[in-house]
Amino acid sequence: MCGIVGYIGDEEAVELLLNGLEKLEYRGYDSAGVAIYDGKELKVSKTKGRLKALRHMLGNGEKMNGTVGIGHTRWATHGKPSDENSHPHTSASRKFAVVHNGIIGNYLSIKELLTNLGKEFSSETDTEVIAQLLEHYDNGNTLETVIRVLKDLEGSYAIGIINKDNPHEIVAARKDNPLIVGVGKDENFIASDVNAIVSRTKDIMRLEDGEIAVIKSNKVVVYDMDKNIIKKNIQRVNWDISAAGKNNYSHFMLKEIMEQPKAVHDTLFPRLKKGEIVLEDDINLSKEYLEKINKIFIVGCGSAYHAGCVGKYIFEKLLKKPVEVDIASEFRYRNPIVDENSLVIAISQSGETADTLAAIRRSKQLGARVLSIVNVVGSSIAVESDDVFYTWAGPEIAVATTKAYSAQLVAIYLLSIYAANKLEKISRIAYTRYVDELFFLPKKMQKVLNLTDKIRKFSEKKYLLESVFFMGRNLDYAVSMEGSLKFKEISYVHAEAYAAGELKHGTISLIENGTLVVAVATQRSVTDKMANNIEEVKARGAQILGISTDSCLDLRKICDFSFSVPDTHDILQPSLSIIPLQLFSYFVAMLRGCDIDKPRNLAKSVTIE
Ligand code: G6P
Repeated sequence: MCGIVGYIGDEEAVELLLNGLEKLEYRGYDSAGVAIYDGKELKVSKTKGRLKALRHMLGNGEKMNGTVGIGHTRWATHGKPSDENSHPHTSASRKFAVVHNGIIGNYLSIKELLTNLGKEFSSETDTEVIAQLLEHYDNGNTLETVIRVLKDLEGSYAIGIINKDNPHEIVAARKDNPLIVGVGKDENFIASDVNAIVSRTKDIMRLEDGEIAVIKSNKVVVYDMDKNIIKKNIQRVNWDISAAGKNNYSHFMLKEIMEQPKAVHDTLFPRLKKGEIVLEDDINLSKEYLEKINKIFIVGCGSAYHAGCVGKYIFEKLLKKPVEVDIASEFRYRNPIVDENSLVIAISQSGETADTLAAIRRSKQLGARVLSIVNVVGSSIAVESDDVFYTWAGPEIAVATTKAYSAQLVAIYLLSIYAANKLEKISRIAYTRYVDELFFLPKKMQKVLNLTDKIRKFSEKKYLLESVFFMGRNLDYAVSMEGSLKFKEISYVHAEAYAAGELKHGTISLIENGTLVVAVATQRSVTDKMANNIEEVKARGAQILGISTDSCLDLRKICDFSFSVPDTHDILQPSLSIIPLQLFSYFVAMLRGCDIDKPRNLAKSVTIE
């Protein structure tokens, strides 16, 4: 949502803050700002627009001096993107500066109270009330003042605070929003995620809800809300710095598309041992427990939800248990029939998506066991789940997910095949076949990536299109949903996904001469049905781009254009068929001049409702 970074040490803070913010810009990018203590007072520079506008303002870091500071990159929630609404926000006398990620639900009542006491506000944000409240309650001790303020706040927050009268410390706190402390040698950091600071330190402390950290250059002490000291462990992150760089790719998205065989390999191979799927290092899914499960719920948002849609088909097919898949923001506000015999699988790249987090909390209240599939180690969803299956996709920076989605599919394959084998729902021969096919998946994905040039050329013919429909059946429908989302979110072209058999119940009226319909047709059991659906839309003038398998020659013959992917087991086919759709989306967006890694209005990590 928003990105926070803070530095305290011996070096000039501003350049370190700007570099950190650059790595967090994917979290929000409509405005940015920094506050630095310059030895006398708090200096604030902030502006609407991308980080480069702030850099420009700061003359590339030359205009602000000081070794303590906080920075922020914003994705607007309360108040439009503007200079005034940008963070950091300061209290009236400029004694306190605050950066904040999250939403203060009761900010209006606090604002009214403070306004009645004569405080003047200079922004429309909820964050400014934190700065003003700090001054209101100030007793000279920043920790005590912060605790007093936090007691008044409702909602979610990760905050970083500096105080002009206590300038040798940064105070940080969190509730339902990620915040880490980076521990260096004679320098320390705060950040929304590891990316921002990993070039300086790999030693981190993850703050938990209700914890307040007082960070000096040579010391970090964490307290609870009663001022008791909490002993925190320092974790060493195993993070390759180059993985978070663009290397020679024009966009992170293209780099991450190309990294998919590796993301899949790294998620898969530690769990394949001597021809067996071994999950015991991650989770304990005993036969007795699996037998007890009467229903599986899968929850997630965006692409993670789409991975869940793939999961529904596969779990039902292999485990023969009912599976419901739901968008987390719907699940949390309906009345799902969840009980102690339900398994809730939460899928999330970031592990911080507010709706998914709320969905797992609700599931746990109802007695369910929660297993999460998460890419970020130690993230809130991981911490709050009963079991975690980590995907090892590495840092994903482009807002539109690709490699994390692919790694989520692998998690689904492994979990479902493993459980089906334990429950003896599949034969030993079938199990071995699945495992063999899994083994070849990264190589087959690489083969699909070899189509890149052809897909770029095809995109050059089609990039001016105004609308595109994606259709498929069963697993191909789930892939179509993800393809359609990818396409519209980065190219801003209208796209819709339809279950191929449903098109004729309304949507087919939108098909005109030349409308592009992408038909995903890899599932053998419904190939004939798909052929009929292709003919139906062709008869209304549609042009068809078919995505099928190498062996599916007949189907390709009826398509105007086609890309074929290697054959694998039906349930694994989504890992291959999604790649041409990602590349098509990427090239169309590129040819239309879109800001691919940071599409308008979108943020990578949505830590508010
Ligand atoms: C945002 C991102 C999507 C992502 C979704 C869920 O909308 O733009 O790419 O799929 O959040 O995020 P999560 O981190 O929970 O997977």
